[in-house]
Amino acid sequence: MKQPQAMCLSGPALLRSKLTREKTAATGPEQSESQASHRAFLSPFRYPGGKSWFIKVARKWLKNQPRRPTVLVEPFAGGAGISLAAVHEDLVNEAAFAERDRDVAAAWKTMLNGEAKWLADKIRSFRISRKRVEKVLTRTPSNRQRRAFRCLLRNRTARGGVITKGAGLIREGEDGNGLGSRWYPDTLAERIATISYLKPKLKFTQGDGFTLIKKFIRRQRAVFFVDPPYTQAACRLYNHWKIEHEKLFKLLCRAKGDVLMTYNDTPEIRALAEKYGFQFKRISMRTTHHQKKRELMISKNFKWQKKPNAKSKSNGAKDLGGEK
Ligand SMILES: C[S@@+](CC[C@H](N)C(=O)[O-])C[C@H]1O[C@@H](n2cnc3c(N)ncnc32)[C@H](O)[C@@H]1O
Repeated sequence: MKQPQAMCLSGPALLRSKLTREKTAATGPEQSESQASHRAFLSPFRYPGGKSWFIKVARKWLKNQPRRPTVLVEPFAGGAGISLAAVHEDLVNEAAFAERDRDVAAAWKTMLNGEAKWLADKIRSFRISRKRVEKVLTRTPSNRQRRAFRCLLRNRTARGGVITKGAGLIREGEDGNGLGSRWYPDTLAERIATISYLKPKLKFTQGDGFTLIKKFIRRQRAVFFVDPPYTQAACRLYNHWKIEHEKLFKLLCRAKGDVLMTYNDTPEIRALAEKYGFQFKRISMRTTHHQKKRELMISKNFKWQKKPNAKSKSNGAKDLGGEK
Protein backbone atom coordinates (compact mmCIF):
# COMPACT_ATOMS: atom_id res chain seq x y z
CA MET A 1 0.00 0.00 0.00
CA LYS A 2 1.23 3.46 -0.78
CA GLN A 3 2.47 5.27 2.31
CA PRO A 4 0.45 8.33 3.21
CA GLN A 5 2.30 11.53 2.39
CA ALA A 6 3.17 13.77 5.28
CA MET A 7 4.17 17.37 5.15
CA CYS A 8 7.78 17.55 6.27
CA LEU A 9 7.53 14.00 7.58
CA SER A 10 9.07 10.90 6.16
CA GLY A 11 7.43 8.23 8.27
CA PRO A 12 6.01 7.06 11.56
CA ALA A 13 9.35 7.31 13.39
CA LEU A 14 9.61 10.97 12.63
CA LEU A 15 5.97 11.37 13.46
CA ARG A 16 6.57 9.87 16.90
CA SER A 17 9.53 12.12 17.50
CA LYS A 18 7.44 15.13 16.52
CA LEU A 19 4.77 14.17 18.98
CA THR A 20 7.31 13.75 21.73
CA ARG A 21 8.72 17.18 21.01
CA GLU A 22 5.23 18.59 20.98
CA LYS A 23 4.67 17.15 24.41
CA THR A 24 7.50 19.15 25.85
CA ALA A 25 6.98 22.26 23.76
CA ALA A 26 3.40 23.11 24.54
CA THR A 27 1.76 24.24 27.71
CA GLY A 28 -1.92 24.56 26.74
CA PRO A 29 -4.99 23.27 28.55
CA GLU A 30 -4.73 19.92 26.83
CA GLN A 31 -1.20 19.64 28.17
CA SER A 32 -2.56 19.66 31.68
CA GLU A 33 -4.20 16.26 31.36
CA SER A 34 -2.66 12.95 32.34
CA GLN A 35 0.55 12.05 30.54
CA ALA A 36 -1.11 9.39 28.40
CA SER A 37 -3.95 11.62 27.29
CA HIS A 38 -1.51 14.43 26.87
CA ARG A 39 0.69 12.37 24.57
CA ALA A 40 -2.30 11.42 22.50
CA PHE A 41 -3.83 14.83 22.08
CA LEU A 42 -3.56 15.88 18.47
CA SER A 43 -6.41 18.28 17.85
CA PRO A 44 -5.41 21.83 16.97
CA PHE A 45 -8.63 22.99 18.66
CA ARG A 46 -9.07 23.82 22.32
CA TYR A 47 -12.67 22.96 21.94
CA PRO A 48 -15.31 24.04 24.45
CA GLY A 49 -16.60 20.78 25.90
CA GLY A 50 -13.62 19.04 24.27
CA LYS A 51 -12.79 15.54 25.33
CA SER A 52 -9.02 15.52 25.82
CA TRP A 53 -9.63 14.43 29.43
CA PHE A 54 -11.68 11.47 28.23
CA ILE A 55 -9.08 9.88 25.92
CA LYS A 56 -7.96 7.41 28.57
CA VAL A 57 -11.48 6.03 28.93
CA ALA A 58 -12.14 5.98 25.20
CA ARG A 59 -8.86 4.12 24.65
CA LYS A 60 -9.89 1.41 27.11
CA TRP A 61 -13.31 1.15 25.49
CA LEU A 62 -11.76 0.66 22.05
CA LYS A 63 -9.08 -1.77 23.20
CA ASN A 64 -11.57 -3.97 25.01
CA GLN A 65 -14.06 -4.49 22.23
CA PRO A 66 -14.56 -8.22 21.52
CA ARG A 67 -13.27 -7.64 17.99
CA ARG A 68 -11.09 -4.79 16.78
CA PRO A 69 -13.44 -2.08 15.48
CA THR A 70 -12.93 -1.25 11.83
CA VAL A 71 -14.34 2.24 12.10
CA LEU A 72 -14.88 4.75 14.88
CA VAL A 73 -17.85 6.99 14.13
CA GLU A 74 -17.87 10.42 15.80
CA PRO A 75 -21.02 12.24 14.67
CA PHE A 76 -20.55 15.47 16.69
CA ALA A 77 -16.86 15.93 16.11
CA GLY A 78 -15.87 19.45 17.17
CA GLY A 79 -12.13 19.13 17.76
CA ALA A 80 -12.35 15.35 17.11
CA GLY A 81 -9.72 14.55 19.74
CA ILE A 82 -11.00 11.01 20.26
CA SER A 83 -11.05 10.18 16.55
CA LEU A 84 -7.53 11.49 16.12
CA ALA A 85 -6.19 9.52 19.07
CA ALA A 86 -7.91 6.31 17.94
CA VAL A 87 -6.42 6.49 14.49
CA HIS A 88 -3.02 7.63 15.62
CA GLU A 89 -2.79 4.80 18.15
CA ASP A 90 -4.05 2.33 15.55
CA LEU A 91 -7.00 1.24 17.67
CA VAL A 92 -9.30 1.37 14.65
CA ASN A 93 -8.71 1.21 10.90
CA GLU A 94 -10.31 4.58 10.33
CA ALA A 95 -12.43 7.30 11.88
CA ALA A 96 -15.53 8.78 10.25
CA PHE A 97 -16.47 12.09 11.81
CA ALA A 98 -19.00 14.82 11.12
CA GLU A 99 -19.47 18.41 12.14
CA ARG A 100 -22.19 20.83 11.18
CA ASP A 101 -20.44 24.12 11.92
CA ARG A 102 -19.26 25.70 8.67
CA ASP A 103 -16.11 27.22 10.16
CA VAL A 104 -15.04 24.09 12.03
CA ALA A 105 -15.75 22.05 8.90
CA ALA A 106 -13.57 24.43 6.88
CA ALA A 107 -10.72 23.71 9.28
CA TRP A 108 -11.09 19.93 8.90
CA LYS A 109 -11.42 20.12 5.13
CA THR A 110 -8.40 22.36 4.86
CA MET A 111 -6.29 20.00 6.96
CA LEU A 112 -7.45 16.89 5.13
CA ASN A 113 -7.84 18.07 1.54
CA GLY A 114 -4.33 19.11 0.63
CA GLU A 115 -4.22 22.61 2.13
CA ALA A 116 -2.64 21.64 5.43
CA LYS A 117 0.72 23.14 4.55
CA TRP A 118 -0.86 26.48 3.68
CA LEU A 119 -2.65 26.50 7.04
CA ALA A 120 0.45 25.51 9.01
CA ASP A 121 2.54 28.19 7.26
CA LYS A 122 -0.15 30.80 7.86
CA ILE A 123 -0.23 29.97 11.56
CA ARG A 124 3.54 30.09 11.82
CA SER A 125 3.84 33.42 10.07
CA PHE A 126 0.97 35.20 11.89
CA ARG A 127 2.29 37.79 14.32
CA ILE A 128 -0.22 37.84 17.12
CA SER A 129 -1.55 41.13 18.46
CA ARG A 130 -5.03 42.18 19.54
CA LYS A 131 -5.32 44.48 16.55
CA ARG A 132 -4.38 41.79 14.02
CA VAL A 133 -6.62 39.20 15.65
CA GLU A 134 -9.59 41.56 15.65
CA LYS A 135 -8.95 42.37 11.99
CA VAL A 136 -9.02 38.69 10.98
CA LEU A 137 -12.08 37.92 13.11
CA THR A 138 -14.21 40.76 11.75
CA ARG A 139 -13.47 40.06 8.08
CA THR A 140 -15.45 37.65 5.92
CA PRO A 141 -12.93 35.11 4.64
CA SER A 142 -12.55 34.97 0.87
CA ASN A 143 -12.06 31.22 0.69
CA ARG A 144 -12.16 28.02 2.74
CA GLN A 145 -8.51 28.13 3.80
CA ARG A 146 -8.91 31.61 5.24
CA ARG A 147 -12.10 30.53 6.97
CA ALA A 148 -10.17 27.64 8.51
CA PHE A 149 -7.47 30.01 9.74
CA ARG A 150 -10.04 32.41 11.18
CA CYS A 151 -11.76 29.53 12.96
CA LEU A 152 -8.58 28.27 14.63
CA LEU A 153 -7.52 31.80 15.51
CA ARG A 154 -10.90 32.52 17.11
CA ASN A 155 -10.89 29.19 18.92
CA ARG A 156 -7.46 29.82 20.43
CA THR A 157 -7.89 33.48 21.28
CA ALA A 158 -11.49 33.52 22.54
CA ARG A 159 -12.25 32.97 26.20
CA GLY A 160 -12.94 29.28 26.78
CA GLY A 161 -12.28 28.51 23.09
CA VAL A 162 -15.83 29.54 22.26
CA ILE A 163 -16.30 29.49 18.49
CA THR A 164 -19.44 31.59 18.17
CA LYS A 165 -19.23 34.95 16.43
CA GLY A 166 -18.58 37.74 18.87
CA ALA A 167 -17.15 35.48 21.60
CA GLY A 168 -15.05 37.60 23.97
CA LEU A 169 -11.29 37.48 23.53
CA ILE A 170 -8.86 36.35 26.22
CA ARG A 171 -7.70 39.27 28.35
CA GLU A 172 -5.14 38.27 30.97
CA GLY A 173 -4.61 34.71 29.76
CA GLU A 174 -2.30 32.17 31.36
CA ASP A 175 0.41 33.74 33.49
CA GLY A 176 -0.57 37.15 32.18
CA ASN A 177 0.45 36.19 28.65
CA GLY A 178 -2.69 37.80 27.30
CA LEU A 179 -4.21 37.04 23.96
CA GLY A 180 -1.38 34.76 22.85
CA SER A 181 -1.51 32.56 25.92
CA ARG A 182 -3.13 29.69 23.99
CA TRP A 183 -1.61 30.40 20.59
CA TYR A 184 1.32 27.99 20.01
CA PRO A 185 2.25 28.32 16.33
CA ASP A 186 4.82 25.51 16.24
CA THR A 187 2.67 23.05 18.16
CA LEU A 188 -0.36 23.83 16.03
CA ALA A 189 1.63 23.51 12.81
CA GLU A 190 3.02 20.17 13.93
CA ARG A 191 -0.42 18.87 14.85
CA ILE A 192 -1.72 19.91 11.47
CA ALA A 193 1.20 18.09 9.80
CA THR A 194 0.40 14.96 11.80
CA ILE A 195 -3.28 15.14 10.87
CA SER A 196 -2.31 15.54 7.25
CA TYR A 197 -0.11 12.46 7.56
CA LEU A 198 -3.05 10.47 8.96
CA LYS A 199 -5.52 11.68 6.36
CA PRO A 200 -6.04 8.34 4.53
CA LYS A 201 -7.66 7.14 7.77
CA LEU A 202 -9.65 10.26 8.60
CA LYS A 203 -12.98 10.60 6.79
CA PHE A 204 -14.59 13.93 7.50
CA THR A 205 -18.12 14.94 6.48
CA GLN A 206 -19.59 18.39 6.85
CA GLY A 207 -23.18 17.88 7.88
CA ASP A 208 -25.60 16.23 10.20
CA GLY A 209 -24.26 13.71 12.67
CA PHE A 210 -27.53 11.74 12.53
CA THR A 211 -26.94 11.04 8.84
CA LEU A 212 -23.45 9.76 9.62
CA ILE A 213 -24.76 7.45 12.35
CA LYS A 214 -27.37 6.01 9.98
CA LYS A 215 -24.67 5.21 7.44
CA PHE A 216 -22.91 2.90 9.90
CA ILE A 217 -25.81 1.72 12.05
CA ARG A 218 -25.85 -1.83 10.66
CA ARG A 219 -22.10 -2.35 10.69
CA GLN A 220 -21.10 -4.89 13.29
CA ARG A 221 -17.61 -3.51 13.71
CA ALA A 222 -18.43 0.18 13.62
CA VAL A 223 -18.35 1.76 17.08
CA PHE A 224 -19.85 5.13 17.97
CA PHE A 225 -18.32 7.79 20.19
CA VAL A 226 -21.08 10.33 20.68
CA ASP A 227 -20.48 13.68 22.39
CA PRO A 228 -23.47 15.81 21.41
CA PRO A 229 -24.13 19.43 22.35
CA TYR A 230 -25.51 19.09 25.84
CA THR A 231 -28.90 20.13 27.00
CA GLN A 232 -27.47 22.88 29.21
CA ALA A 233 -25.04 25.61 28.21
CA ALA A 234 -24.54 24.40 24.62
CA CYS A 235 -26.26 27.46 23.16
CA ARG A 236 -23.50 29.68 24.59
CA LEU A 237 -20.72 27.52 23.18
CA TYR A 238 -21.67 26.42 19.69
CA ASN A 239 -23.42 27.78 16.63
CA HIS A 240 -25.28 24.47 16.30
CA TRP A 241 -26.61 23.17 19.54
CA LYS A 242 -30.23 22.14 19.04
CA ILE A 243 -30.56 18.44 18.56
CA GLU A 244 -33.33 16.02 19.40
CA HIS A 245 -31.86 14.02 22.25
CA GLU A 246 -34.55 11.38 22.29
CA LYS A 247 -34.15 10.84 18.56
CA LEU A 248 -30.43 10.28 19.15
CA PHE A 249 -31.02 7.60 21.80
CA LYS A 250 -33.69 5.98 19.67
CA LEU A 251 -31.34 5.80 16.72
CA LEU A 252 -28.29 4.60 18.64
CA CYS A 253 -30.13 1.79 20.38
CA ARG A 254 -30.36 0.17 16.93
CA ALA A 255 -26.58 0.24 16.38
CA LYS A 256 -25.03 -3.17 15.79
CA GLY A 257 -21.67 -2.01 17.14
CA ASP A 258 -20.91 -0.60 20.57
CA VAL A 259 -21.78 2.92 21.66
CA LEU A 260 -20.10 5.28 24.11
CA MET A 261 -21.81 8.58 24.80
CA THR A 262 -20.93 11.45 27.10
CA TYR A 263 -23.67 13.70 28.42
CA ASN A 264 -24.36 16.06 31.22
CA ASP A 265 -25.83 14.30 34.18
CA THR A 266 -29.50 15.24 34.33
CA PRO A 267 -32.62 13.26 35.26
CA GLU A 268 -33.88 13.65 31.67
CA ILE A 269 -30.75 12.08 30.17
CA ARG A 270 -30.75 9.27 32.72
CA ALA A 271 -34.38 8.58 31.88
CA LEU A 272 -33.63 8.48 28.15
CA ALA A 273 -30.70 6.11 28.69
CA GLU A 274 -32.92 3.75 30.68
CA LYS A 275 -35.78 3.98 28.24
CA TYR A 276 -33.55 2.93 25.33
CA GLY A 277 -31.74 0.14 27.17
CA PHE A 278 -28.40 1.81 27.85
CA GLN A 279 -26.39 1.66 31.04
CA PHE A 280 -24.76 4.71 32.54
CA LYS A 281 -22.11 5.72 35.03
CA ARG A 282 -21.02 9.03 36.37
CA ILE A 283 -17.48 9.92 35.49
CA SER A 284 -15.59 12.37 37.58
CA MET A 285 -12.08 13.49 36.74
CA ARG A 286 -9.73 16.12 37.97
CA THR A 287 -7.24 17.55 35.54
CA THR A 288 -3.81 18.50 36.80
CA HIS A 289 -5.05 22.09 36.69
CA HIS A 290 -7.54 21.00 39.37
CA GLN A 291 -10.47 21.50 37.12
CA LYS A 292 -13.23 19.06 37.96
CA LYS A 293 -15.04 17.34 35.11
CA ARG A 294 -18.21 15.48 35.97
CA GLU A 295 -20.34 13.89 33.30
CA LEU A 296 -22.41 10.87 32.52
CA MET A 297 -21.04 8.17 30.27
CA ILE A 298 -23.52 5.94 28.59
CA SER A 299 -22.86 2.64 26.88
CA LYS A 300 -24.63 -0.58 25.95
CA ASN A 301 -22.94 -2.12 28.98
CA PHE A 302 -19.69 -1.64 30.85
CA LYS A 303 -18.13 -5.07 30.31
CA TRP A 304 -15.32 -3.28 28.48
CA GLN A 305 -14.25 -1.66 31.77
CA LYS A 306 -13.67 -5.01 33.44
CA LYS A 307 -11.36 -6.68 30.93
CA PRO A 308 -8.13 -7.90 32.58
CA ASN A 309 -5.81 -6.54 29.89
CA ALA A 310 -6.78 -3.02 30.81
CA LYS A 311 -5.30 -1.41 33.89
CA SER A 312 -7.71 -1.72 36.76
CA LYS A 313 -6.61 1.63 38.23
CA SER A 314 -9.47 4.08 38.55
CA ASN A 315 -10.21 6.12 35.50
CA GLY A 316 -12.54 8.25 37.50
CA ALA A 317 -15.71 6.36 36.61
CA LYS A 318 -18.02 5.89 39.53
CA ASP A 319 -20.30 2.90 39.45
CA LEU A 320 -23.60 4.20 40.65
CA GLY A 321 -24.69 0.71 41.71
CA GLY A 322 -28.23 -0.34 41.04
CA GLU A 323 -28.43 1.61 37.83
CA LYS A 324 -28.97 -0.15 34.57
C1 LIG B 1 -19.79 18.77 22.61
S1 LIG B 1 -19.22 19.33 21.08
C2 LIG B 1 -18.11 18.06 20.59
C3 LIG B 1 -16.76 18.21 21.19
C4 LIG B 1 -15.80 17.13 20.77
N1 LIG B 1 -16.12 15.86 21.36
C5 LIG B 1 -14.35 17.50 21.09
O1 LIG B 1 -13.69 16.76 21.84
O2 LIG B 1 -13.88 18.52 20.62
C6 LIG B 1 -20.60 19.08 20.04
C7 LIG B 1 -20.39 19.50 18.58
O3 LIG B 1 -21.53 19.06 17.82
C8 LIG B 1 -21.72 20.00 16.77
N2 LIG B 1 -23.09 19.79 16.26
C9 LIG B 1 -24.26 20.27 16.73
N3 LIG B 1 -25.31 19.76 16.06
C10 LIG B 1 -24.79 18.91 15.14
C11 LIG B 1 -25.34 18.05 14.15
N4 LIG B 1 -26.67 17.94 13.99
N5 LIG B 1 -24.51 17.32 13.40
C12 LIG B 1 -23.15 17.40 13.56
N6 LIG B 1 -22.57 18.20 14.47
C13 LIG B 1 -23.36 18.94 15.25
C14 LIG B 1 -21.45 21.33 17.43
O4 LIG B 1 -21.15 22.30 16.45
C15 LIG B 1 -20.27 20.99 18.33
O5 LIG B 1 -19.08 21.22 17.63
